[in-house]
Amino acid sequence: MLTDDADMPVIDRESLSRVVTFGNGKGGVGKTTVASNTAGLAAADDTTVLLIDLNGQGNVGRELGYREGPLDDDGQALADAVAEGTALRPVSSGRPNLDVCVGGAAVGHLPSILSNRYQFQAERQALMLAVSLQQVAGNYDLVVIDSPPENPPLQQLALAAARWLVVPVKSDKASIEDGLGGIAKQFALVRKKVNPALELLGVVLFASGSSSTAIRKDVRRDVEKVLGEGAPMFSAVIRHSEAVSRQARERGLLVHELEQAAASNPAFWQLRTGEASREQVVSTTSASVAEDLAGLTREMFSRIAALETSA
Ligand SMILES: Nc1ncnc2c1ncn2[C@@H]1O[C@H](COP(=O)(O)OP(=O)(O)OP(=O)(O)O)[C@@H](O)[C@H]1O
Ligand SMILES: [Mg+2]
Repeated sequence: MLTDDADMPVIDRESLSRVVTFGNGKGGVGKTTVASNTAGLAAADDTTVLLIDLNGQGNVGRELGYREGPLDDDGQALADAVAEGTALRPVSSGRPNLDVCVGGAAVGHLPSILSNRYQFQAERQALMLAVSLQQVAGNYDLVVIDSPPENPPLQQLALAAARWLVVPVKSDKASIEDGLGGIAKQFALVRKKVNPALELLGVVLFASGSSSTAIRKDVRRDVEKVLGEGAPMFSAVIRHSEAVSRQARERGLLVHELEQAAASNPAFWQLRTGEASREQVVSTTSASVAEDLAGLTREMFSRIAALETSA
């Protein structure tokens, strides 16, 4: 639990006003997929973006294709900066406008390093990512943080550095009740103790087999049971496609990049004559999933703009 601390670092919340954390207490609900793809789409649209992988598994590297390559330091630079309170040292993802702070095992060890270093200073521990991020956030129009499931200390770091929270959910009741419930608890704690600027930007339905009004109504009802009436939900829904998710991770491509690769699919006759193989064929559903993700990205930006002007 967070407790009262002396000697708290000063956080310039203005410098962190365009920081979005993707979080959910449960695993496998689309946090990494949606965080990476919205970051990539914003970058492709001329926005300068920093994507921070605050995960011990480093799955953002699978989405962007740098896992186990030269960029992959297993989260060491990110963990060192946060532990010391020094500036983050982002690296280029190899895509224009998109820098990353690489995640991995070292990030998984951060909570125990911070709790040893700042014993009984739980609020200070929670603010350490904010301390490191505020030193570089001015270089970016948007900062996206991917956070892990079932890890309150890392979730608190991600929430304490953010202005906005986006929660991807799957349609099943249990994942909404447990997952949304878990992150809502951390959200309330962080908001009260260290980051009153934190706001819920919205909940997005991920990997849905249907975008029917009935399903959305059911999901909205379950979300409202946890968050209360009028909980913000995005109208964009990310449709289910195993083929797209498998091919994206296999190739280390974002979904809109997969869609572009589909344009060079081999022709039917090339497959018949053996000139090309089935493995070279990219799912054309990538275009629809990319459109869902682009719709969500647009909605996120317009909500941020609307909330900023109403503040
Ligand atoms: N459109 C999609 N339809 C179905 N599955 C998808 C889709 N996009 C991605 N997936 C797959 O869903 C799984 C979970 O996604 P993801 O890793 O983004 O969730 P997560 O919440 O970040 O998980 P964790 O909590 O383990 O970090 C992954 O295997 C991913 O490849
Ligand atoms: Mg993940």
